[in-house]
Amino acid sequence: MADMGCSSGPNTFLPIWEVMEAIDETCRKLNRKNPILQVFLNDLPGNDFNSIFRSLPSFRKKLEEEMGGEFGPCFIAAMPGSFYGRLFPPRSLHFVHSSYSLHWLSEVPEIPLNKGNIYLVETSPPDVHKAYLNQFEKDFTAFLRSRSEEMIPGGCMVLTIHGRDENNDSSGNHSPTIWEFLGMMLNDMVLEGLIEESKLDSFNLPIYVALAEEVKDVIRAERSFTITRLESFHVSWDSCIDDRCRDTMDKYTKGKYAAKQESTWKHSRVHSPIMLFP
Ligand SMILES: C[S@@+](CC[C@H](N)C(=O)[O-])C[C@H]1O[C@@H](n2cnc3c(N)ncnc32)[C@H](O)[C@@H]1O
Repeated sequence: MADMGCSSGPNTFLPIWEVMEAIDETCRKLNRKNPILQVFLNDLPGNDFNSIFRSLPSFRKKLEEEMGGEFGPCFIAAMPGSFYGRLFPPRSLHFVHSSYSLHWLSEVPEIPLNKGNIYLVETSPPDVHKAYLNQFEKDFTAFLRSRSEEMIPGGCMVLTIHGRDENNDSSGNHSPTIWEFLGMMLNDMVLEGLIEESKLDSFNLPIYVALAEEVKDVIRAERSFTITRLESFHVSWDSCIDDRCRDTMDKYTKGKYAAKQESTWKHSRVHSPIMLFP
């Protein structure tokens, strides 16, 4: 299996854990020996792969403690490189997973002036929307094409993609993204003379937060995969707060807490896990 955009943090080993648990459970039911698993962790070459491999012994120890060491051997390797190109030999992967990574574009699209903003906002000109969508379509198509060559027929791919709703709040009001807030802060810094206005105007983020329909359209147009399941779920902006504390906090305390958390950027957005078969 391969995990595309594995990063180097607490989430890096989660997909391997989940897969091993699922295999273990299935093998028990079928009264079969667990297979040998080879896992490739993929990310860009700048990712801190060294820290992943340094924490591998403690991951193995935890796995053995919790799963009783009854699973088959698991070989873990790194595969640095962009997932928008080929990374593996033809027909070599049974399972591909990617979580929270495909909203990163391969480059910032050529866009007309997106004044005072660093990403799409409700008031961005239509041409800016179009340029971002075009880049997403081009990149996601390249991702699917590469994986379609690397996966065996009958393999499976599970993607969790950072997405958006058409009406992104239950009342139908526009709720700003974290990047819109960042843009506002940078605008304040321009007003305070800390940043040059032209620098803010020319800076745009290489991300695109797609609608589920846009994701489906690319998969259908590329034609290598069929979608067997597509779900959407919301992650609330205060999801970084422990459930036990959330109910006792007022909204200002929650706001302050969330603003200080690194994970806050995973705020009230839609995420679409999709399961694809080549
Ligand atoms: C937000 S992290 C997701 C980490 C982890 N998968 C998770 O769900 O928490 C996104 C990761 O995607 C990686 N990434 C972005 N563009 C990539 C590309 N073209 N090829 C490979 N990895 C990429 C980033 O370097 C980053 O580590």
